Amino acid sequence: MIEIDCVSKSFGGQKVLEEVSLGIAKGEKLLLMGQNGAGKTTLMRMILGEYRPDKGGVKIDGCDPLRERQKALAQIAFVPQMPPPLKLTLEELTYYVSQSCGIESERVWKFAEAMELEWKQNLKKTFFKLSGGMKQKLLIAIALSRDAQVLMFDEPTANLDPSARIRFDALLREFAMDKSLIFISHRIQEVEGLVERIVEMDLGKVVRDEKI
Ligand SMILES: Nc1ncnc2c1ncn2[C@@H]1O[C@H](COP(=O)(O)OP(=O)(O)O)[C@@H](O)[C@H]1O
Ligand SMILES: [Mg+2]
Repeated sequence: MIEIDCVSKSFGGQKVLEEVSLGIAKGEKLLLMGQNGAGKTTLMRMILGEYRPDKGGVKIDGCDPLRERQKALAQIAFVPQMPPPLKLTLEELTYYVSQSCGIESERVWKFAEAMELEWKQNLKKTFFKLSGGMKQKLLIAIALSRDAQVLMFDEPTANLDPSARIRFDALLREFAMDKSLIFISHRIQEVEGLVERIVEMDLGKVVRDEKI
């Protein structure tokens, strides 16, 4: 499903990814761990075609995310570590997502409800004015409402309150079962029994890759 082939990337002389190779099969679920600055987010953004590798390449179901961006990204639902500073209201954003992904707005709101996001009262509010936790709840709702084959979550629970974490855990176990999953987290217990593989990075390299 995802092939990362010997990818290297430097930013201003600092090696951030060093010959990273990783294959993720259809339906495979993995936890990506590693200290702050290990290169986890950069690797995810590389899969999304947001960075051009200095060396090596990425393929998503055979598509290059740099050259066939739309086709490659249609397969991926992504929750970023840092929510983007979107100026759209919740209503506009959800409408945009529904149009571009071919899903009903109602479906997004259903997941937002399940994540305990008070969306009805905030329809006219600008996304970037929401609290960190509220942004994360909506981004999770959008990701889960899309019928993408790959789910990628970059520390998605960092801003969630305990009750929303429980909701998210239940939704993930219900809706991620038949999908490929890359889950970045420092807490292994969040995805216990869900992921079957742990990949650990350190200083831009994969230092551990094992089935559990
Ligand atoms: N766009 C960028 N420009 C310059 N340096 C970057 C950029 N993105 C990430 N880095 C650097 O790359 C390293 C790895 O970052 P990141 O992938 O975010 O780590 P992690 O997600 O594992 O904490 C860090 O030292 C970070 O400062
Ligand atoms: Mg990160």
